[in-house]
Amino acid sequence: MKTLISEISAIVSQAFADCGYDPALGNVVKSSRPDLCEFQCNGAMAGSKLYRKKPYDIACEVLEKIGERPEFETVVAIMPGFLNIILSGEYLADYLHRISSDAKLGANTEQTPKKIVIDYGGPNVAKPLHVGHLRSAIIGESIKRIYRFYGNDVTGDVHLGDWGLQMGLIIKELESRRPELVYFDDNYTGEYPEDAPFTLSELEEIYPTASKKSKEDAEFAEAAHTATYELQQGRRGYRALWKQILALSIPDLKKNYENLDVHFDVWKGESDAQDYIAPMIEMMKAKGLAQVSEGALIMDVREESDAKEIPPCILMKSDGSVLYHTTDLATLVQREKDYAPDKVLYVVDKRQELHFTQVFRAARKSGIVRPETELAFLGFGTMNGKDGKPYKTREGGVMRLERLIKEINDAVYEKSLESEHISDEQERIETSRLIAMAALKYGDLSNQASKDYIFDIDRFASFDGNTGPYLLYNIVRIKNILAKYDGNVSFDKISESVSPAQKALMLTMASYNDVLDAAYSESAPHKLCALCYDLANAFNSFYNETKILTEPDEGRRASFIGLIALVKTMLETAIELLGFAAPERM
Ligand code: ARG
Repeated sequence: MKTLISEISAIVSQAFADCGYDPALGNVVKSSRPDLCEFQCNGAMAGSKLYRKKPYDIACEVLEKIGERPEFETVVAIMPGFLNIILSGEYLADYLHRISSDAKLGANTEQTPKKIVIDYGGPNVAKPLHVGHLRSAIIGESIKRIYRFYGNDVTGDVHLGDWGLQMGLIIKELESRRPELVYFDDNYTGEYPEDAPFTLSELEEIYPTASKKSKEDAEFAEAAHTATYELQQGRRGYRALWKQILALSIPDLKKNYENLDVHFDVWKGESDAQDYIAPMIEMMKAKGLAQVSEGALIMDVREESDAKEIPPCILMKSDGSVLYHTTDLATLVQREKDYAPDKVLYVVDKRQELHFTQVFRAARKSGIVRPETELAFLGFGTMNGKDGKPYKTREGGVMRLERLIKEINDAVYEKSLESEHISDEQERIETSRLIAMAALKYGDLSNQASKDYIFDIDRFASFDGNTGPYLLYNIVRIKNILAKYDGNVSFDKISESVSPAQKALMLTMASYNDVLDAAYSESAPHKLCALCYDLANAFNSFYNETKILTEPDEGRRASFIGLIALVKTMLETAIELLGFAAPERM
């Protein structure tokens, strides 16, 4: 569906054309002086130079051509040559009617769906999920939902970190603690025990201990590197242990993501790329793209236009082990084979930007992806505490995601005890969870992804201001009104006289599809957040000034109800795309 602004632009452009001017001059924009008008066209200013006429004369000519039209309440030419436009309530109502009858609320969905893979989440097996992984999950999930809403075939892949040095560290640490285990016995040929020789919480303690040790003990670090290599090469005992680490870790990760309402379609990891690595490296060698440098196998990915030096991609270390570049490249081989995607989007910490520049270049140079495949990196900033430093626990440690979510849930639950609307304990728990989720996700998504932001739960959980709970509060308010209304709810006729608050609300609603389109094309959930906030504010002003249920005129009452029901649909659709939902009461 055409956006409102392009519909009005088409009318004004036609008038420019009818006067013999370039129709491109008829482009309409939102007014920079909302006190004077809603939209404006500045084309006569540019036209003045092209046609050597006074801009005001051009504006008057065009105005004359536009004439009386049902779309406009007024159009005036003002000095030095602007056209100021105010839309008619009738036209706005008609536009909103078209939005409300469209299953996608007027969004300009894809005619030919694209096959898209989104690589997000990226947790590391055996390391606890911490807040650093939170942003990827929240932003990636929202973008996945938006892409899908636009009709694309989207696969969300968690891309587990399960093949790196942390595995070697865990293996070696466990070996030093319990050398008698069969996993470490080279001569052992039998079946390995079904259950892991440790619990999840032991595992979570083993990794940090081993990581610390490797920094102090060079020999241990060396052994861990070797173990990583041997694991990758398929050493039986290590593979068995590795499988058990995964079997313990993955259900826990799944539970955590479930709690966040984040859902992956595919649970592949770095290890799934292993089989593609050897043939890929052969191919790169055959194409003359891989060189040996200081024992390692590298690929030069510099380009002439580079402003600063881009280091080579390291494909294989001198000891034969593979690195992050290698698994990411081989994963692209796998994705090409499994999905032949039109686009692969990575939602990862922006500090990894160089890594992805290297990977994308290497993938293109070696023909792993087709030239038309889009490789995109969406780098996000850091979630900081109030001190401006990366968010930590009160004791200064790394904040685990589980604990963070619990703290937010508890804070919201505590606050909900003040609400007299809820008496049922189960409902209170469920409602608190929904509010906490809105607080957490909106607090993150309302910032432009690439920026750092300050995590402030008191602010995020507030029912006032630019917060998730404020949106929920407005949705709940509309639900309450609708529940008390006994007529038929439908977006039909908007009554003749429209108050300024209603007009403002309708204008914001009419920009819905336009902003949604931008959020989609720019992969920018923060735009959707801003729209929700504007909508909620406009609804609030309308609500405060308007008797809705007590409006005596039946027709007017019905039209108000139809209008706010559409606000509700718009807000609910948007928050669903952001990844959270509203309760019945709060
Ligand atoms: N596991 C990585 C980390 O914790 C993130 C993975 C991002 N995705 C990728 N394909 N490299 O830093």
